[in-house]
Amino acid sequence: MASLKKILIKGGKIVNDDLSAFVDVYIEDGLVKDIGISLNYSESEDMKVINAAGKLVMPGGIDTNTHFQYPFTGSEYLEDFFQGTKAAVAGGTTMIMDFAIPKKGTSLIEAFDTWRSWADPKVCCDYALHVAVTWWSDKVKKEMEILARDKGVNSFKMFMAYKDLYMVNDVELYQAFTCCKNIGAIAQVHAENGDLIAEGAKKMLSLGITGPEGHELCRPEEVEAEATQRAVTIANSVNCPLFVVHVMSKTSAKIIANARREGKVVFGEPIAAGLGTDGTNYWHVDWCHAAAHVMGPPLRPDPTTPKYLMQLLANDDLSVTGTDNCTFNTNQKALGKDDFTKIPNGVNGVEDRMSVVWEKGVHSGIMDENRFVAVTSSNAAKIFNMYPRKGKIAVGSDADIVIWDPEATRTISAKTHHQAVNFNIFEGMVCHGVPLVTIAGGRVVYENGILNAVQGHGKYIPRKPFPDYVYSRVLQRDGVDQPLPVHRQPYEGEVIQLK
Ligand code: URP
Ligand code: ZN
Repeated sequence: MASLKKILIKGGKIVNDDLSAFVDVYIEDGLVKDIGISLNYSESEDMKVINAAGKLVMPGGIDTNTHFQYPFTGSEYLEDFFQGTKAAVAGGTTMIMDFAIPKKGTSLIEAFDTWRSWADPKVCCDYALHVAVTWWSDKVKKEMEILARDKGVNSFKMFMAYKDLYMVNDVELYQAFTCCKNIGAIAQVHAENGDLIAEGAKKMLSLGITGPEGHELCRPEEVEAEATQRAVTIANSVNCPLFVVHVMSKTSAKIIANARREGKVVFGEPIAAGLGTDGTNYWHVDWCHAAAHVMGPPLRPDPTTPKYLMQLLANDDLSVTGTDNCTFNTNQKALGKDDFTKIPNGVNGVEDRMSVVWEKGVHSGIMDENRFVAVTSSNAAKIFNMYPRKGKIAVGSDADIVIWDPEATRTISAKTHHQAVNFNIFEGMVCHGVPLVTIAGGRVVYENGILNAVQGHGKYIPRKPFPDYVYSRVLQRDGVDQPLPVHRQPYEGEVIQLK
């Protein structure tokens, strides 16, 4: 069993987002207690010494976007919070952020409590919850206030797609963004035009296109881009910070990059799937292969997309990486064997995100090791107000650490992965960058291929509103950027009479 030992990590190179240094790390009671050159602690029964010579010692990954245990699109879930977090730690991720999603017309707080009751006994690493706003009313507004004030929720996701299920309209977005701003939360959007998707899907089916390629054809890039631009515009009109989840297209990424260059407080989250593979898979002749890639927004058939997204991630045009991990086996995907609109949406990623970003980002020379830490961990901790407790190796930080071998390689495969799903969208990808040891909350939960994780050992991490990293500019602008009326002499002349 993974016990809470003292741990001394010797001889490695610590990599934070701002600095790398050859120093040792000492861990006790789940926290980093000391950092320094050649630390000298006397060895004891209850101390584990890890030799990290030649290895990188980095903050464990934070996956900002998972859906564990979620019965999505009518199909039963495949991975619960234990299975999901086990796969996370096997890949070097030590915290996940999942979504509590209420049905339209139902309570956000009840959804939050339900997701907590699913996650608390199961997680083997720390987690937090975003909450979805799928409808609008005064009750929803009050519940958002309570969630932000009392329940540690500082991020709310609005869906611009999934018509009749989760989709909200522009006025509802405006109200939800205004509320987020008032309570110090970050507004998140799934940016796709749900009306256009619904019409596009009917058109594809009428053309006899029933296979997974129809999924992309009915929601091309511009459907994502239009919604992204609309979300940016609405958020900016109420000076609300915006976080665009699962950015899948070059066009949408460019909109986010431009908004950031104009000074708007917007963050973009590409995901492992979009960085590691592409939408040509929807045209694969094997239906099972093609269907396994169905997710929303879809992977893009333009094969230059993954590299482009990685380049924007390296430049700070995009900010963090998640996975949108939401897995279904082939027999579940087969609900849509004759109609692509019935294929449950979602792919794997939680286990492989760190390796995919290292391989495609760092090994390829697009980003350095410090930027890797920024986009896999630190930026998420800053945006969602958990820094430096999370996202940094520093005295006092949580002992969430991955010891990484940048030279070793592994080949991703569904045959060897720790996820429950029978397909891996990265099958056969050879990745440099292998997690050797994962420490979550001060416990060694994964070491040299062996999982040692215990369900319930992870904790819910409450997050305070108004993160400085996001809100300093926002609040300052409120003070200096208010429009003012022009003071004029009243008009005294004639006014026509309307008939
Ligand atoms: O296909 C996806 N993305 N499944 C998960 C639900 C969502 O849209 O986030
Ligand atoms: Zn989504």
